[in-house]
Amino acid sequence: MSGPTFIECDRIELQTVEEEDIEFLQRGVNHPAVRHHIEAFRTPINGEQYRELFESIDSDEDGVTLLVVPRDGASAGEPIGSVQLYPVNNARGFANLGVWFMPQVWGNGYATEASAYLIDYGFQQMGLHRISAAPNSPNEASISLCERLGFVHEGTSRDLGFVDGEYIDLERYGLLAAEWDGPQAVLSQ
Ligand SMILES: CC(C)(COP(=O)(O)OP(=O)(O)OC[C@H]1O[C@@H](n2cnc3c(N)ncnc32)[C@H](O)[C@@H]1OP(=O)(O)O)[C@@H](O)C(=O)NCCC(=O)NCCS
Repeated sequence: MSGPTFIECDRIELQTVEEEDIEFLQRGVNHPAVRHHIEAFRTPINGEQYRELFESIDSDEDGVTLLVVPRDGASAGEPIGSVQLYPVNNARGFANLGVWFMPQVWGNGYATEASAYLIDYGFQQMGLHRISAAPNSPNEASISLCERLGFVHEGTSRDLGFVDGEYIDLERYGLLAAEWDGPQAVLSQ
């Protein structure tokens, strides 16, 4: 059971992270299919470590992390993933978009919807100027997600990641506030 709704979307709500959600988040970031393409989740993280991380969060410096909770369907009222603007550079108005969902809900458009509303919050409420994302090149779902959201491909960092025994490229995407037309422009495509 997560906290209050912070952002209302169409089929989902983005809710605050509460202490009782730590178990879900810890399960998600350790899930082999979720962590596969995320460098930051490369090392195992136990409950106590996750709790320390949760307690050290400074909302100004550490950005925004929200749980994604569907209104209807099999997972109604339960968290299915997380979206994040982290890290945030307030001085420059930059943030990075992070997103993951439990594998059983992949392919239903939840990442598109949750990210579109969080990006909108970032530009309209936090006053961000630029949001970036850096998926691994073999991560087709994440690359499609960036492109669907209107991110511009800005370059490739060669051999920056390491997955399945091989160095892999990281694709650099960026979206400027002036390029953003709101969540419905993405969701109505
Ligand atoms: C990436 C991820 C968040 C996408 O979540 P999702 O809810 O399945 O995404 P959506 O259903 O909103 O789909 C987003 C786009 O990806 C495409 N997509 C989804 N799964 C895909 C797959 N397995 N292969 C190729 N494309 C895929 C969708 O078709 C959609 O593109 P479209 O709008 O052009 O049709 C999810 O796969 C995930 O949690 N992966 C593990 C963690 C991760 O990689 N996070 C991103 C790190 S940068």
